Amino acid sequence: MKKQLFINGEWVETESYKDLLSPYSNEKMAEIASATEEDVDKAIAAAYQTNETMAEMPAHKRASILEKVANLIEARAEEAAKIISAEAAKPYKTALGEVNRTVATYKFSAEEAKRIHGETIPLDAAVGGENRIAYTVREPIGVIGAITPFNFPMNLVAHKVGPAIASGNTVVLKPAEQTPLSSLFLADIFKEAGLPDGALNIVTGKGSVVGEKIVKDDRVKKISFTGSPAVGIGIRNKAGLKRVTLELGSNAAVIIDQGVDLDKIIDRCVMGAFSFQGQVCISLQRVYIHESLYEQFVEKMVAATKQLKIGDPLDPNTDVSALISPSDVDRALAWIEEAKQGGAKIVTGGDAEGNVLQPTILTDVDAKLKVSCQEVFAPIVLINKVSSVKEAINYVNDSRYGLQAGIYTDNIHTALMATKKLHVGGVMVNDIPTFRVDHMPYGGVKESGVGREGVKYAIEEMTEQKLVVFNQA
Ligand code: SIN
Repeated sequence: MKKQLFINGEWVETESYKDLLSPYSNEKMAEIASATEEDVDKAIAAAYQTNETMAEMPAHKRASILEKVANLIEARAEEAAKIISAEAAKPYKTALGEVNRTVATYKFSAEEAKRIHGETIPLDAAVGGENRIAYTVREPIGVIGAITPFNFPMNLVAHKVGPAIASGNTVVLKPAEQTPLSSLFLADIFKEAGLPDGALNIVTGKGSVVGEKIVKDDRVKKISFTGSPAVGIGIRNKAGLKRVTLELGSNAAVIIDQGVDLDKIIDRCVMGAFSFQGQVCISLQRVYIHESLYEQFVEKMVAATKQLKIGDPLDPNTDVSALISPSDVDRALAWIEEAKQGGAKIVTGGDAEGNVLQPTILTDVDAKLKVSCQEVFAPIVLINKVSSVKEAINYVNDSRYGLQAGIYTDNIHTALMATKKLHVGGVMVNDIPTFRVDHMPYGGVKESGVGREGVKYAIEEMTEQKLVVFNQA
């Protein structure tokens, strides 16, 4: 299966193609176009030329295109889930969950398209502002460069393309090299839904060619990127005056206070730690639990983790499958080894079978070890005991990252104190940090990123506020 580039509403050839291999079986799945700089230039030109068409398209039409996209994906949900599952090694049931969320994200985008508005400004509140009528409108910013990661290859694309189209922008999309098929699947769907040619262009290939051109080209007015902090910081440095939204990583944590009913939270903690092999920006990586519950919790976590079914991502019963690449398996094993040398105990897992890393639980982990202070992006969770919630908050905040954090407590005062003191983009009370629905504001502080996604919030960052003042004097 040869997959071309999608530029100006057409599938187009390029000079070279790269094999796409299954992360689970290493079998060849497709040949994917490696776009040249000239290809990307054509994609940007197509998006740029379509700006006016999209900016003039009425809101009800943008909404109806997005509504159709949602319905078309919904009708092909199982096919879509198989694509995600095969190329990302995402367990099928998790992939189906992603498809359902993708449908929701396009539906939210359709709804938000109809409520993009400004406000009236009472200029006479200032001396000299009398006899004027003033209001703001929100205008599309132009070409949006969307650079997306492998871990949610359909829904994190939807989080960029949905709001961009809802607000009358055009898009040049560069999907992750490991997971291009989920994006390419969308091209015909958008065409069938009636999106004008040139409004969505999909260019696959290397970051150093495709990403670089998108980030540096002056016709692109905004970059929306999800991925690693290192790449995100590089983008920020090269983007000049473009707007930039960065959704980067984290080493997300949960705090468990004394008195919490562990049986109510174990399944959730296991899901947060090991869903999609921990390759989620808000995966549960660190647990800080009150010493009175520590031993019971470790025991219950180990027992529940051992129930997880490891195997082929396309098997509907699989819970945990391969990491995205063999080098990620090697990296994760090296970090586990470093933790062991640094005094941590492996209470379950710690080894790999092929590209599948066993779900791993570590205890007694020093905060300076990589499995604690860096983003692990693998099925590894650490459990450390604390003597108070305040001590736990200090551990959570002692991080380069700050995306989301969770706290389980029965004490409302403790919960309120934690919501104030935790330095993150979102605090989940009585839940793990691994909670996201697609209309909520989502983004981080510190090295977790800049700006917010969640359809309405992404639209704010993809539109320019214009002030209009009528002088009645
Ligand atoms: C992410 O990994 O940044 C996205 C998490 C999600 O959408 O659930």
